Amino acid sequence: MNDAPSKPLVLFMPSGKRGRFPVGTPVLEAARQLGVYVESVCGGRATCGRCQVSVQEGRFAKHGIKSANDHLSPVGPKEERYDRVRGLPEGRRLSCSAQILGDLVIDVPQDTVINAQVVRKAADERVFDRNSAIRMCYVEVEEPDMEKPLGDLDRLKAALVADWHLENLDVDFHLIPKVQSILRKGEWKVTAAVHKDHDDAHPRIVALYPGLKNEAYGIACDIGSTTIAMHLSSLLSGRTVASAGTSNPQIRFGEDLMSRVSYVMMNPDGREAMTLAVREAVNGLIDKVCAEGGVSREDILDSVFVGNPIMHHLFLGIDPTELGGAPFALAVSGAVHVKSSEIGLPMNPGTRTYLLPCIAGHVGADAAAATLSEGPHRQDEMMLLVDIGTNAEIVLGNAARTVAASSPTGPAFEGAEISSGQRAAPGAIERVRIDPITLEPRFRVIGVEQWSDEPGFAEAAAATGVNGICGSGIIEVIAEMYLAGIISEDGVVDGSLGERSPRILENGRTFSYLLHDGEPRITVTQNDVRAIQLAKAALYAGVKLLMDKLGIDHVNRIGLAGAFGTFIDPKFAMVLGLIPDCDLTRVKAVGNAAGTGARMCLLNRSYRREIEETVRKIEKIETALEPKFQEHFVYAMALPNKIDPFPNLSAAVTLPERKVLADAAGEGGARRRRRSRE
Ligand code: FES
Repeated sequence: MNDAPSKPLVLFMPSGKRGRFPVGTPVLEAARQLGVYVESVCGGRATCGRCQVSVQEGRFAKHGIKSANDHLSPVGPKEERYDRVRGLPEGRRLSCSAQILGDLVIDVPQDTVINAQVVRKAADERVFDRNSAIRMCYVEVEEPDMEKPLGDLDRLKAALVADWHLENLDVDFHLIPKVQSILRKGEWKVTAAVHKDHDDAHPRIVALYPGLKNEAYGIACDIGSTTIAMHLSSLLSGRTVASAGTSNPQIRFGEDLMSRVSYVMMNPDGREAMTLAVREAVNGLIDKVCAEGGVSREDILDSVFVGNPIMHHLFLGIDPTELGGAPFALAVSGAVHVKSSEIGLPMNPGTRTYLLPCIAGHVGADAAAATLSEGPHRQDEMMLLVDIGTNAEIVLGNAARTVAASSPTGPAFEGAEISSGQRAAPGAIERVRIDPITLEPRFRVIGVEQWSDEPGFAEAAAATGVNGICGSGIIEVIAEMYLAGIISEDGVVDGSLGERSPRILENGRTFSYLLHDGEPRITVTQNDVRAIQLAKAALYAGVKLLMDKLGIDHVNRIGLAGAFGTFIDPKFAMVLGLIPDCDLTRVKAVGNAAGTGARMCLLNRSYRREIEETVRKIEKIETALEPKFQEHFVYAMALPNKIDPFPNLSAAVTLPERKVLADAAGEGGARRRRRSRE
């Protein structure tokens, strides 16, 4: 039977959800019934403008739909008034007013702008389905009546039940003394900010505004051990209004995580001082994003934080001492819900904070957020996600099974422990190429356009200097030294090349490579190579353990998270054997995936459930307890690896012939290999 004439077919884009509805159904109602998220603050009174949609005109043969603007009811008086007062962009309709008259393809724009917010072109423009934990609900409340002695708050609740089906409402206590004055100020018209994090949770009024309050904001923040990054987003449109970052002031208590734990252990006020420091920095960032976005702190109603376990604990005011040694016990691994004011972040008195769950004692809420963002658990392909810092957090898996671990890579990749190492800053060498014939290098430094062998380099570099090598530069120079035959697969600098090149320098029993003969003189020493080998072997051994757990010998995709992942060239990372062999086109920097995951949880509470569920299922591997770690580690000391094949890499790069050189201790690669098998 064809019921099309009485029940037109409506297809919503981009979700692709479709259904038939009786003629006269408001589009907003149809969207609700299909579970398509369309924002509404005024409850269909045609005053908030949040419910805008547009019609895609034309014939959509695949769906059997001929869609036209006149398949919607003509613009009525309410919509006409909104357009006159607030202005409706060309082609947009208010879905609460427009009724379905015929078949339609409806576009739900992801970026309805109401208050002409300043919009930042964020690096990450991903758009997510929205379903934030905060809903703004406008209601008109019955005025008090001597005959009906129901309290003002109770009549407000009754209105929220009637208009928004919000049963079993709880109310933040701080609002109770203010309810009467807000209702009267708004002449019985108010907007309630209702927090509901979980389908099973009672909804709760956390803020109340006189009249129509047509905006609410949230922050998503990634507390890294080195930097803290924050985004301010509209909870109603999903737009990122402002972003800011700062360095983590805890650095003054210790560069790396373990030294911060030691600081807590050694100083009675250490924990408190570090908690205060990180909260001050977060508060400073809130001020900054608010100023940039033209938003009042009071209008931030929700916030999401992620961080590694030690940052997570210190931010919450929890002593991280237990995380300093086995069994690396977390005080809390599940998601944390708290009022922001309770953790020293004054915004609105009703603002909530959500922290994603931690995966394990060394694999934190930041790794959980990166997992949520990149979604290994949502795909069939085997994906490796690595966030490289002083501790590498590793997640490997697919929809069937996911495992996670961390590996103690140490600070070498950040330039520490390297004789000419430095943080990524102007003047740091970040890219290196070495001619395999002449052994002459060319390089680029941060802050200078030209390569070192190009005209204008010396003049441009005069401003920045050439001061040292940053993490990506170290990866490249050591990989290039290997490709040029300057170091063997065991990482030994070949001193015999000194006959061919003045760049091979002798230092007692070992040799160095002179990368830049300036002030300062920048060399790569045998110890530098060793430090990188140790760091990369630790990471690779961790990855191998996870691959063993899953019984796989290759991965389909690799995501490199974090700042380091953004700057390293996947090819050189693979030449070093930092990551396992993989199609190079499928190795991608995924940027601040942890920050993206935090933003997802801010804008859509179902992502909170998804990651909580996923983290419960992720199998945690403690690398220190796995007997095979050491074996993998020893093989992984070689470039790219003593026993693992790298077919994808070999197809893309000509790897040098194996050569075995005796190192400083007179110990050759072959001997090392034999010994490791004993
Ligand atoms: Fe507010 Fe349509 S729901 S204008």
